[in-house]
Amino acid sequence: MSNISIKSREEIEIMREGGRILAGILEKLRAEVKPGRSAQELDKLARELVFSRGARPSFLGYAPNGRGEGYPAALCVSINDEIVHGIPEKNKIISEGDLVKLDMGVERKKMHTDATIMVGVGKISVAAEKIMKVAEECLYLGIDAIAPGKIISDYACAVEDHAKKNGFSIVRDLVGHGVGRSIHEPPQVLNYFHKKLGNVTLKVGMTLALEPMINEGGYEIYLADDGWTYKTLDGKLNGHWEHTVAVTKDGCEILTKI
Ligand code: MF3
Ligand code: CO
Repeated sequence: MSNISIKSREEIEIMREGGRILAGILEKLRAEVKPGRSAQELDKLARELVFSRGARPSFLGYAPNGRGEGYPAALCVSINDEIVHGIPEKNKIISEGDLVKLDMGVERKKMHTDATIMVGVGKISVAAEKIMKVAEECLYLGIDAIAPGKIISDYACAVEDHAKKNGFSIVRDLVGHGVGRSIHEPPQVLNYFHKKLGNVTLKVGMTLALEPMINEGGYEIYLADDGWTYKTLDGKLNGHWEHTVAVTKDGCEILTKI
């Protein structure tokens, strides 16, 4: 598809800097995910850190499809059955046993990167431990399948097989995406095999936000009343990790690591 942008070496270098900033911020936030903390406190810290590092939060004010005022925070904090786009409200308090997803985008010199980490709070259930681990494995197995000449479905099958083998379903209504000059760009990066949408050939210089989303129960999801937070329909756990990668001649480079 010709509408997928190929980034220059300079653009990728900027994304590498931004991605490193983002990874550093997520690691700092990880240490602050503790019982009694509010999601709003994490968001406040995320904002301070991103501005102090000469970057800005990509999600703040972001309005997909021209939606109203846009997203009201820098950080998405999604807990347990919440999948993505959890708003870091003051009354969203972290508890022992929670499975917390921190998702953030960083804009540096007009280029964006996007990443998500999961954090278990204190002692978490065996089920929570498992979905957190398998979701991360899905991401890395998917990353191993990214290379020039491969197609999106090669990535998707690696993710889908591993999730299913472990008894998890794959979210279908939310997908990864191209990223770079904007936070969301073509192509859609599905996490499950799709004959048509998955048939996009990868090329050197494409930059993608890979984000497998796997559910403990059914794949069905719904949008909560706040208009942002997506949750599992059956109330069971979701697992979600994300990295931004650049396709290179040998495979890919993870940009959102320290
Ligand atoms: N990381 C999120 C995604 O790829 C982007 C969230 S934008 C927000 O879907 F505005 F919803 F926060
Ligand atoms: Co994303």
